[in-house]
Amino acid sequence: MSTQAIDTREFRNALGQFPTGVTVITTLDAAGNKIGMTANSFTSVSLDPMLVLWSVAKTCKAFDAFAESKHFAIHVLNINQKHISAQFASNCDDRFKDIEHIEGHGGIPVLADYSAVFQCDTERLYDGGDHVILLGRVVAFDNKKLPPLVFHAGRYADLDQPVVAV
Ligand SMILES: Cc1cc2nc3c(=O)[nH]c(=O)nc-3n(C[C@H](O)[C@H](O)[C@H](O)COP(=O)(O)O)c2cc1C
Repeated sequence: MSTQAIDTREFRNALGQFPTGVTVITTLDAAGNKIGMTANSFTSVSLDPMLVLWSVAKTCKAFDAFAESKHFAIHVLNINQKHISAQFASNCDDRFKDIEHIEGHGGIPVLADYSAVFQCDTERLYDGGDHVILLGRVVAFDNKKLPPLVFHAGRYADLDQPVVAV
């Protein structure tokens, strides 16, 4: 393995020490198809105006859809949604199969279950190396106040019982 590959792996491992929540981010592509993917790069940016960000890999199949999106919805997953995280990161034909959802802002799919959801207008894109950073202006949000799904060191974790099997 090249030195760079080892460094990249070590860099990922070091980044993984930072615990995050897990989100599913949804939008529509140019043809109106429902698009969704799992992301843990979500973070808050500004309270007034209400701004959030996340980053999408340029290699991701959903990249064009998100880069061209006018709106997207960020669902913070709850502790019981490990399988939803897996489904939206998988290669399955239809990531929305058996997932209850409605049409939200601009027609984007909004999942029925979550801990919190932020519906956004795409405010601005920034280049971020092999990712693009999407800044979203929050136009609606909801908070079910359910315990969150947590991701740490490449595994899902429970806030009370760190490290449960992926
Ligand atoms: C917990 C978790 C967090 C992830 N976070 C991100 C992220 O922030 N940005 C990203 O581009 N991909 C992220 N991914 C990977 C994407 O979900 C996955 O690569 C993508 O859905 C695969 O899509 P594709 O097969 O359509 O390219 C994450 C995956 C998991 C399981």
